[in-house]
Amino acid sequence: MAADIVQNQLTRKPDSVLGLATGETPVQMYHELVRRHRAKRLDLTRITSFNLDEYAGLPPEHPGSYTYYMRERFFDAIPLPSGRGHMPDGLAADPEAAAREYERRIQTAGGIDLQILGIGTNGHIGFNEPGSTLDSRTRLVELTAETIARNSQLFPEGETAPGQAVTVGIGTILEARQIVLLACGPAKARAIRETVEGPVCATCPGSALQTHANCIVLLDDAAAAELQLPPAQSQSA
Ligand code: GLP
Repeated sequence: MAADIVQNQLTRKPDSVLGLATGETPVQMYHELVRRHRAKRLDLTRITSFNLDEYAGLPPEHPGSYTYYMRERFFDAIPLPSGRGHMPDGLAADPEAAAREYERRIQTAGGIDLQILGIGTNGHIGFNEPGSTLDSRTRLVELTAETIARNSQLFPEGETAPGQAVTVGIGTILEARQIVLLACGPAKARAIRETVEGPVCATCPGSALQTHANCIVLLDDAAAAELQLPPAQSQSA
């Protein structure tokens, strides 16, 4: 379904600006997009993309880095012209200047047309951990112990995820014209309930999405299991 939404967006506007996410959840979406691209059912070469986040201090060739993830799952199969597939710079000598530059590039590209999001078990979107202000912008952030422990599962045996990352802000995410939030599995059920049905507040960053006029939430049954309101009211898919 997520690949269909991306395809519909690119049918309307082939040179769309996409906001891209990493993590386990969108892996099948990337696989399906690359499959359609190879089958010549979809042309992904005209997009511009901006990824949500990157660890601080990890070289791009490290298998735990999000740059490596994106190359493996997407960019190696869809070689975009140089300068059109953007990642936040986790190695910048001046992180504040690099963050401002990332925001400027998003604006120069015309803003994000379609933002793909996953969600953390603690409700984070991008790496905007609980307590991030709802109008936050791209910046260097500290990760919570829960996020570091969970994300270390995706690192090579014996390695731990870094404690800092660069993430676009919640305010940056909310400026996208359309947002698709993806969540699968029981570990996400509480975060999804708080995101969809809880109060809009910084303790659950995902809840900020309730204020967006065009946000689709795609869930499997396990991630939707704690929703209490009927779908027509909760707007869940
Ligand atoms: C990670 C990333 C997020 C991602 C989320 C869910 O920490 N920073 O961008 O959406 O957590 O990850 P997963 O899909 O692996 O559960």
